[in-house]
Amino acid sequence: MKKVITYGTFDLLHYGHINLLKRAKELGDYLIVAVTSDDFDKSRGKINVKQPLMERIEAVRNTGLADEIIIEEYEGQKIDDIIKYDIDIFTVGTDWVGKFDYLNEYCKVVYLERTRGVSSSKIRSEEKKLRLGFIGDSNILFKHLAESHYVNGIEPVAVFSEIKIEKYSSIYTSSYEEVLEKSDAVYIITPPDTRYEYIKKALKEQKHVICEAPIALETKKCKELFEYASNNKLILMEAIKTAHSTAFNRMCLLVKSGEIGDIVSIESTCTSLAQIDFNDREAILGQIDSMCDWAPTAFLPILKKKKKNYRDYRIITKKSPIEKNFDLFTKCEFIYDKAIASFKIGKGVKSEGELIITGTKGYAYIPAPWWKTDYFEIRYENQSENKRFFYQLEGEGIRNELVAFLKYIEKRKSGNADKTNSIAISSLMENYYADKNCIHI
Ligand code: CTP
Repeated sequence: MKKVITYGTFDLLHYGHINLLKRAKELGDYLIVAVTSDDFDKSRGKINVKQPLMERIEAVRNTGLADEIIIEEYEGQKIDDIIKYDIDIFTVGTDWVGKFDYLNEYCKVVYLERTRGVSSSKIRSEEKKLRLGFIGDSNILFKHLAESHYVNGIEPVAVFSEIKIEKYSSIYTSSYEEVLEKSDAVYIITPPDTRYEYIKKALKEQKHVICEAPIALETKKCKELFEYASNNKLILMEAIKTAHSTAFNRMCLLVKSGEIGDIVSIESTCTSLAQIDFNDREAILGQIDSMCDWAPTAFLPILKKKKKNYRDYRIITKKSPIEKNFDLFTKCEFIYDKAIASFKIGKGVKSEGELIITGTKGYAYIPAPWWKTDYFEIRYENQSENKRFFYQLEGEGIRNELVAFLKYIEKRKSGNADKTNSIAISSLMENYYADKNCIHI
């Protein structure tokens, strides 16, 4: 029996795919189709795939052309599969000519003529794009703007910013109102105390909103915004890019599945030593303090694993000598019924930016800078049992975050968990700025 294998994403299955599968089948007696997993696609830069793996598999199954369907999950798997399934012919379309010649060592490689005029990317790009506007006076805005070009359902259409960048001159506007007029959704990267008003205005104009965390500095305001968004079927999403890193989510799932036993402690550290003179008030004004800049990210693994129902907490903080609203260093400690958690953040200190989740069987460890996670380890008493995991992270997670925003809008469904986290973050902010449970050093 002659066995043939072919690989692909098969997103939004089209006649090009069916042509390919038919001819692949004719090359032999038994056809194995390997459909790429969502994570593998992401790791090779395909972040815009519309259908989840199971839907794509179902579509391939429904063609009736595959005798067997497997999942492609890692780089180098093709050689493993060819040996394991005793394959005679490996085939893909001519868009890959030459790329898989190295497999000739294991079986025959055939490139089949690609069907002209159709592709999943083309179908995806024909869908109406989300017109995204931007507002903010930080360089981060331009990082997001640049990343939005990689997400093929998004078109950056308007920017309102003090910072002028020649490259984007064609989409600059003279007011926030103009941004809202031109966009379906807006990305808000303004100073933390202004975000509430900007969000409210956008929602009132029936625009979806993605906003840097924290979205509000008071619980009441945060709840009000989410309630307004939900009543008007709009998406309001708090942007924490680490929340969309594949490695971070994988680590959370592994911990949840009991790999390290019961969680007893979580410690996260995020610092960036700001190049500013903390004795100069002028220099400090306009800067974002450690709490606003880092707490939402540093708090993320704690909220994700232990939720917000801590029994008690305290905040130890060191403020700038001349500006009482600017913290140089802060440590928050939370006591749960059966665990403790803490995060350490700073802009006037530097420390090892790692994340450690301690369990009764072992611990999860993400090395610095953990918030740009692409690698983590699960470690045990017996070192030979340690496991290491690596997941490529493109664009610091911003691309994945934009894809998630787009998907929420398409499904008109915001993740409930996101809302709960945002409210927990705002509540912590509110307590901190009201000096509740704070110890000053
Ligand atoms: N294919 C083809 N003719 C097309 C499109 C795809 O023969 N018009 C083949 C590819 O060469 C590959 C298989 O179908 O062997 C699966 O391709 P996949 O990458 O999933 O489809 P594309 O439409 O090329 O997707 P994208 O645009 O996302 O790259």
